[in-house]
Amino acid sequence: MKSKAVEIVNFTKKFGDFTAVDNLNLEIYENEVFGLLGPNGSGKTTTLLTIATVYKPTSGDIYVFGHSVTREDYVVRKLVGIAFQEPKAMWIDKPYDLLTWHARIVGYSMSDAKKIVREVMELLGLWEHRNKQFYQLSGGTRKKVELAKVLIQKPRVAILDEPTAQVDVLSKHALWDVIKKLRDEGTTVIIATNDMFEAERVCEKIAIIYKGKLRAMGTISELKDSIPRGDVIEIQYEGSRIPEKLFASLEEYGRIETQSSTLRIYVEKGEEKVLDVIDLFRKNNVKILRIMVKEPTLDDVFTYITGAKLREES
Ligand SMILES: Nc1ncnc2c1ncn2[C@@H]1O[C@H](COP(=O)(O)OP(=O)(O)O)[C@@H](O)[C@H]1O
Ligand SMILES: [Mg+2]
Repeated sequence: MKSKAVEIVNFTKKFGDFTAVDNLNLEIYENEVFGLLGPNGSGKTTTLLTIATVYKPTSGDIYVFGHSVTREDYVVRKLVGIAFQEPKAMWIDKPYDLLTWHARIVGYSMSDAKKIVREVMELLGLWEHRNKQFYQLSGGTRKKVELAKVLIQKPRVAILDEPTAQVDVLSKHALWDVIKKLRDEGTTVIIATNDMFEAERVCEKIAIIYKGKLRAMGTISELKDSIPRGDVIEIQYEGSRIPEKLFASLEEYGRIETQSSTLRIYVEKGEEKVLDVIDLFRKNNVKILRIMVKEPTLDDVFTYITGAKLREES
């Protein structure tokens, strides 16, 4: 059995009277890519900063490989690496110098530091920016420098707060591959995101949080299957009508919508039911021209669970 990398127990964080995170309980296992998915203001960053020992819990506790962030923060700091949502350049104004300094801090010799910094900067397409001033860098490039820190450190637990926000679409895909590789090399990765595509592409398990509370947790398919009859089997068939008998049998699977020669059936586990549907059409001698199964998106799941939208603009 995989061991627990991070265990969040009754974690509450208040800022004055305001509760940013409300009694959160989560277990994140070793070698997973785990996503915290929720719109802005849900409490993702507050949770990540507490795992990284920047904040202290108001109540409850968080354990990283069994070590409490409240009582053993000095141990936890050696286990975690964080890429902040808002990159801060601190007093060092060139990416190359910052990353080299960071590599020295996390224990590389000077010659190894130079080697790893170059390797990671090339991997992320940062090498050409190495001697620019921070203020000259785009938001996306700054985010890559932030991610570079974690890739250099190779921590047991990597915490990535909206790692691809402001990054262009092409680079996003490359970064998602880099993040998965980090996991393959033995790091447990925790990502906060409000981007359902990002969650779907890189996360194995997802916790949906909204207004400081955990709303759902599971693998992507578990979350999608939690919407009753959320899948749609869409069939385009030959001819203009289908026999009553076929229609009646199909209705047993779920609600049906028809529109000219297209029929939609709303079901659970569409990928399994589709085989029965094909069989029924064949038995009734109605030819299928095109068939597909559509799953709900994580946006649909989020809306189903919370009644809200993941992003204000969507
Ligand atoms: N230092 C702080 N002081 C007061 N309120 C804060 C502070 N940090 C976060 N908050 C509030 O807590 C809530 C959760 O914020 P945050 O954890 O940043 O959410 P997310 O990362 O999901 O967008 C927000 O309403 C935010 O305004
Ligand atoms: Mg945030």
